[in-house]
Amino acid sequence: MKAVRYHKYGDESVMALETVERPTTDEDDVLVEIEAIGVNPVDAKLREGALPQKQPLPQTMGTDLAGRVVSVGGNVDSFDLDDRVYGTGFGWGDSGTYAEFAAVPADRLAALPDGVTFTDAAASALVGATAWQTLINQGNLTVGDACVIHGGTGGVGHIAVQIAVAAGCHVVATARGGEPIETVEQFGAVGVDYRSNSLGEDLQDALGGRAADVVLETNADANLAADLRVVGRDSTIAVIGTGGSVVLSATEALDAMLDRVDLRFSSIMSSSNIHRRALTRLATLLDAGDVSPIVAKSYPLEDAESALAHAQAANVIGKVVIDV
Ligand SMILES: NC(=O)c1ccc[n+]([C@@H]2O[C@H](COP(=O)([O-])OP(=O)(O)OC[C@H]3O[C@@H](n4cnc5c(N)ncnc54)[C@H](OP(=O)(O)O)[C@@H]3O)[C@@H](O)[C@H]2O)c1
Repeated sequence: MKAVRYHKYGDESVMALETVERPTTDEDDVLVEIEAIGVNPVDAKLREGALPQKQPLPQTMGTDLAGRVVSVGGNVDSFDLDDRVYGTGFGWGDSGTYAEFAAVPADRLAALPDGVTFTDAAASALVGATAWQTLINQGNLTVGDACVIHGGTGGVGHIAVQIAVAAGCHVVATARGGEPIETVEQFGAVGVDYRSNSLGEDLQDALGGRAADVVLETNADANLAADLRVVGRDSTIAVIGTGGSVVLSATEALDAMLDRVDLRFSSIMSSSNIHRRALTRLATLLDAGDVSPIVAKSYPLEDAESALAHAQAANVIGKVVIDV
């Protein structure tokens, strides 16, 4: 089969399309014939060896997949041959997904309804699991809550906005002005330009005088001070990304403590069951059309390098996908 692999850590020059043996399944695995792959900036960080979790080498690129089950391990009773599935969290030392087939643990896959395309499923996997776990599992987002979602047209943000709107929340989403703001407003959010010099006030206005119950923060270095201005008592600020050091003044830290703000640095590297539950519920929203990923562009496997460069570029609305 074809697979995009690297034999040493490094920049894009270390990844290459190779012909390799099809992976074999352990007892707890299924072999998936991959139809589409979500492309994530973290794929490059793994390849660069920039994360604490180092990969055994050689390694196949990629964390997300959507496809069909073609072989089932002896301990697996949750999937049958030809089932449609999607999943995330692969390629961390096991089968990566920039390939025609991957042997992956069954408990990190969710069933995919017939009404959801493989491309949409792949576009939603890691970003959807992140959005779901951050808002629902960690933020306890509840119908009627007010929430702020930063990076509202990014991979995570554009799915998070739609989940929160579908949950019946008052959603404020930041984005670059113009088309990105129009995009989040089409989803049903109130858009705020993250480049504003008065971000805190703009968020307060967009919240209509309410305090935010949950904030999903993608750029903590730039936005955390504004977040702390707009959250209420017993709220959650879940930081999933930052462009640099995050600094809190003593007053901000004390106010946050007194208001019992749950300020957390959040990772979706959690248990398989949580992944699966999140992806299963997300699949229902995808099937109902309540969440519709935006596919900025899809590339062939042969052009994985361009796909990853596109996913890492600024000003992308939605997700980049590889269609196999
Ligand atoms: N913790 C976890 O488990 C986890 C999981 C997935 C992702 N992440 C991290 O979460 C972050 C977002 O991931 P992603 O896949 O959604 O990335 P992405 O697709 O690149 O989206 C990032 C978005 O942030 C916007 N943005 C840039 N500067 C901003 C600012 N100062 N304030 C608000 N928004 C700003 C960008 O807008 P423009 O490009 O239009 O300027 C873009 O829409 C990344 O740092 C990623 O590494 C963490």
